[in-house]
Amino acid sequence: MNSEELILVTGATGFLGTQLVRELLDRQPHARLALLIRGRPDQSGHQRADLIVPPDERHRVQVHSGDVGQRNCGLETTAWQRLSAETTRVIHSAATVRFDHSLDEARRINVEGTRRVLDFAVGMRQLRSLAYVGTAYVAGERSDLVRESELAVGQSYRNTYEQTKAEAEALVRSRLGSVPGVILRPSIIVGDSRTGVTSSFKMMYWPLKIYARRLWRTVPGYPDAVLDIVPVDFVAASVARLVFDGTALGSTVHLCAGPRGSATIQQVARRAAEYFDAPEARYVDPKLFFAAIRPLLFISLWGRKRRVLRDGRAYRDYFTMRMQFDTTNAERLLEPAGLRPPPVLDYLDRLFHYCVASDWGRKPVSAQ
Ligand SMILES: NC(=O)c1ccc[n+]([C@@H]2O[C@H](COP(=O)([O-])OP(=O)(O)OC[C@H]3O[C@@H](n4cnc5c(N)ncnc54)[C@H](OP(=O)(O)O)[C@@H]3O)[C@@H](O)[C@H]2O)c1
Repeated sequence: MNSEELILVTGATGFLGTQLVRELLDRQPHARLALLIRGRPDQSGHQRADLIVPPDERHRVQVHSGDVGQRNCGLETTAWQRLSAETTRVIHSAATVRFDHSLDEARRINVEGTRRVLDFAVGMRQLRSLAYVGTAYVAGERSDLVRESELAVGQSYRNTYEQTKAEAEALVRSRLGSVPGVILRPSIIVGDSRTGVTSSFKMMYWPLKIYARRLWRTVPGYPDAVLDIVPVDFVAASVARLVFDGTALGSTVHLCAGPRGSATIQQVARRAAEYFDAPEARYVDPKLFFAAIRPLLFISLWGRKRRVLRDGRAYRDYFTMRMQFDTTNAERLLEPAGLRPPPVLDYLDRLFHYCVASDWGRKPVSAQ
């Protein structure tokens, strides 16, 4: 049935994209993939694809050098024409996930890149579906239960990433009349729930590392702040499933742990304290910390602790979040297929284990 499927994937070289490509190759044994990959000065798109696609699968993977930040996604005319004629599904996962980009730079990739992919998709003669990978954090600074149908409700954003992903999602929503699309919103993606393996040590991993190494134990936040994380295997399997689900078209789906599966900062910190044999975390009111304590510490601390103080600022919002993500659409669409995110506390130890085994991403870990 899938012999005619050609799935165009952007962001294939990323943390999620790498796992997604493997998932698509496994689950859709007759489908072909077209990967839009940026070349690097020292590595062509093909060389980068070779690191992701196993040799015995390369016959069904096309690699196209491209950049969603450029006109026509940076594709050569022949590639554009071929993909316009043959693509049946699009998964747009490419984005800049940096929090410190200027608004212009983040918009260039996240908003204008999405616009280019949508413009491309409109002209695809055989297109059956487009899955847009957004983020649950388009909810910005909300502190209530976020429904999948909601987008802009007057919230403000913590950074240019959240803002531009919200703008991009609004754009996708505005095109759903002309493009058969589904919007998928993961929360914070972490390592594989079965093995703990991750290629990305950003987000939750940095605060965890400094805590595990006993460099810091003061949390400028609330013990009951919500930590909604989802393992990359669940997110990749869900994206690969939903892009083929005609009943999902037009929906927005939270790929999140949700109120039942998420944990509090205190629960996670206690588990980490046990695992890493670290002292219990201390909680300080964040307003007091940033207004009075941090400036004083900045004067009195030197070396690593001062660097922790400086770098930790980027994570401040993750210790104060109280919003929860409603997962009604996700349960309706994914549970019949046996896909449900594992509760955060069920697989934390495996994530910790991989952090230690890989020395927080510094050394390779042989497959077990
Ligand atoms: N990680 C999370 O916790 C998380 C949570 C929620 C949602 N998401 C969403 O999931 C998606 C994937 O995130 P990720 O964590 O896998 O990020 P990532 O590891 O940084 O990967 C981003 C991917 O996008 C590609 N890309 C960036 N700019 C591009 C451009 N101008 N043209 C073509 N490709 C470009 C990157 O290519 P290069 O390799 O060439 O840089 C890379 O393949 C994003 O849409 C993100 O918003 C992520």
